[in-house]
Amino acid sequence: MYVLGIESTCDETSAAIVKDGIDIVSHTIASQAQEHSRFGGVVPELASRHHITLMLPCIQQTLDKAHLHIRDIDLIACSEGPGLIGALLVGIRTAQTISWTQNIPLVGVNHIEAHVYASLMSDPHFQTRLPALGCVLSGGHTSLILIHDIGSYSLLGQTVDDAIGEAFDKAAKMIGLGYPGGPAIEALAKEGNADYFSLKAGHVKGHPYAFSFSGLKTSVLYTLQKKISWTREELANLAASFQLAAFHDVYKKLSLALKEHPVHAIYFGGGVTANKKLHEMMKELPLPHFFPHHALCTDNSAMIAGLGYQVWKKKHQSETLTICPKTRIPFGL
Ligand code: KG4
Ligand code: ZN
Repeated sequence: MYVLGIESTCDETSAAIVKDGIDIVSHTIASQAQEHSRFGGVVPELASRHHITLMLPCIQQTLDKAHLHIRDIDLIACSEGPGLIGALLVGIRTAQTISWTQNIPLVGVNHIEAHVYASLMSDPHFQTRLPALGCVLSGGHTSLILIHDIGSYSLLGQTVDDAIGEAFDKAAKMIGLGYPGGPAIEALAKEGNADYFSLKAGHVKGHPYAFSFSGLKTSVLYTLQKKISWTREELANLAASFQLAAFHDVYKKLSLALKEHPVHAIYFGGGVTANKKLHEMMKELPLPHFFPHHALCTDNSAMIAGLGYQVWKKKHQSETLTICPKTRIPFGL
């Protein structure tokens, strides 16, 4: 079954063709990061306009690369949220139009669930490792979930303030690095000593699995305010200490969850999982754990097509006329 996936929740316009939920036949990601970087973050209206320009060429290029025609597509899947409303509208309306005119069924998928699916896609045996822990580390979400099955999750905890990727982006801005901040912090941190500053992520009383990164972000600001001029080496120490504190917190919460829940594996997802230091630190986890392939860590449509296939297998119901964009979708409740 060939599934065309369409992604437009934020600043990545992407189309992919995935066979039977696993095999990526063709994948195109048109990133707008460059356009937004001069504003220091994503400008929602600008993102919508870029999606309009990029979406159809992106889909056409994806079909061409696969040597397929739109008639060969069996199902369309698009992100229905959470995301920027204008950006989502472009992907959804494009998907609906193709679905209606070409008579191809359409399903909407949850973008956050798809980030977790990106990691399941990297493990051919994931069905045998359920229940598992899921850990979403993205620009908009930080969640710890129990994966009972695809489509069946329980939320253990999530961030009460900034998402982890958002904290990376904000800390990077304070340190004077560009957008997106995650890769910039990772690169600078490689030159630094992570034990130089003693930083810590927040603890939410009574909620051991809840995350809080806004205090950690503010400690970067307070540290910076202590001096007027900073050398590159000192900034590298700060970036490294910030990164270590954030990932140490994730490790701590995962370790606790493993003690309390009988799971067989851990599946990571979301843009922050592109970080190699995270991979290194998570090697200490006592269970098999999986990250998405590098290209599927940040926003992409292969994970949307993959999850769309699974949703269709369960529901068999096209949403051509009913799907609508959602800025927020409860996940794992
Ligand atoms: O999952 P994603 O592409 O978009 C959302 O759904 O939010 O995540 C984007 C986030 C940004 O905050 C970006 O700074 C962060 O992922 N990110 C990283 C790295 N690459 C991207 N954070 C840390 N290290 C990285 N290498
Ligand atoms: Zn995302």
